[in-house]
Amino acid sequence: MAIKRLDELTAGMVLASDLKAEDGRLLFKSGTELEERHLTLLERVGVSSAEVEDTCELSDETLCEVEDYVREFFLYVDPDFPPSIELFRVVLELTGKAVAGGWTLPDVAERRAASVEHMADLFLKGMGSPETIVKHETELASFPDVYFRIREVLEDDSASADRIAQVVSTDMSLAAKLLKLVNSPLYGFPSTIDSVSRAVALVGAKELSTLALGISAINYFKDIPPELVDMKSFWRHSITCGIFAKIIASAQTGLSPERFFIAGLLHDVGRLIMFKKLPYASTEAMLFARENSIPLVEAERSVLDFCHTDISAPLLKSWQFPEGLSDMINYHHSPMAFPNPLEPAIIHVADNLANAVQVAEGGMYVLPGFDEDAWTLLGLDEGFLDRAVEDYRQQIDTILTAFF
Ligand SMILES: [Fe+2]
Ligand SMILES: [Fe+2]
Repeated sequence: MAIKRLDELTAGMVLASDLKAEDGRLLFKSGTELEERHLTLLERVGVSSAEVEDTCELSDETLCEVEDYVREFFLYVDPDFPPSIELFRVVLELTGKAVAGGWTLPDVAERRAASVEHMADLFLKGMGSPETIVKHETELASFPDVYFRIREVLEDDSASADRIAQVVSTDMSLAAKLLKLVNSPLYGFPSTIDSVSRAVALVGAKELSTLALGISAINYFKDIPPELVDMKSFWRHSITCGIFAKIIASAQTGLSPERFFIAGLLHDVGRLIMFKKLPYASTEAMLFARENSIPLVEAERSVLDFCHTDISAPLLKSWQFPEGLSDMINYHHSPMAFPNPLEPAIIHVADNLANAVQVAEGGMYVLPGFDEDAWTLLGLDEGFLDRAVEDYRQQIDTILTAFF
């Protein structure tokens, strides 16, 4: 990090800390990439210096290494489709910046995970259908009570805002997480919201119940042993997908963005059941995907004969999860196979964007495949990707802290 005087600042530099005016007003958040218009504003408000991230020019050799590294993640994406080319450029830039900032590209050895031999699966390949696996899980463990009470409220159109606040407030940790989330940049409310009833009033009753439902479902998985799988990475990917899903949904008309955040958050929920029931096989699938640079969903199919959406379908059905949300989750790898593909298409694109930005964060999995029809259906304009990635960067760290 370096402090630069106003006359040393140039477009393209990235702020290393929040930039405030003399009166303490926030001008730009940390992580903002300065543009000419920002510099003009800084001059106008009389800011004299700013803390920016170190930039160093990458050698041609390093640039080639970065490009080769990034290209590997795009093997399953059509190289001639203009939005794919644009996404590749965005990821290349992000990765280049990360490397310039001191991040080292993971080498091949790092792509191999620790030994998984000690794990014993409850089901072996061919011995359990997704339905049997889910049945075994749902019979064994009971789902949190609060989940069902929220679902009732969600289904009851006449439920009052007070009733919703009351149900949510019975679970302290759920209420705390919800408040953190509505106070995060996901909403960007100007002042702090300190009660659930205020959150219901501001966010909306249905929207807040949807958020509460998703968060209570997540709590069910809090006991998955961390040595089994890197749960932090799993949730980072899920939250990232949720953020992008909400950004994409906000660019459409007439959609409630909260539903998409939750669908994104839970899009790979089938994988969590696989971690619990088939730890060895799911780790094997992860290794297979990394070593061969194939999408994880394809690796699951090779190792297990089914994939995580085959698991999420019976799982969400047994939880009586709202149908629209379930469809988005179950079809996120094949959105165009769904009769009304718009909603699953949003999760599909968000999942790809999540995998894409994670390349520059040490993500290990190639993009699952960018369905051109799904992208086209969303009618996103040209500058969308750059804006969406910038929005994501502004939000991710604070939203993560709402969950961990
Ligand atoms: Fe997935
Ligand atoms: Fe995913």
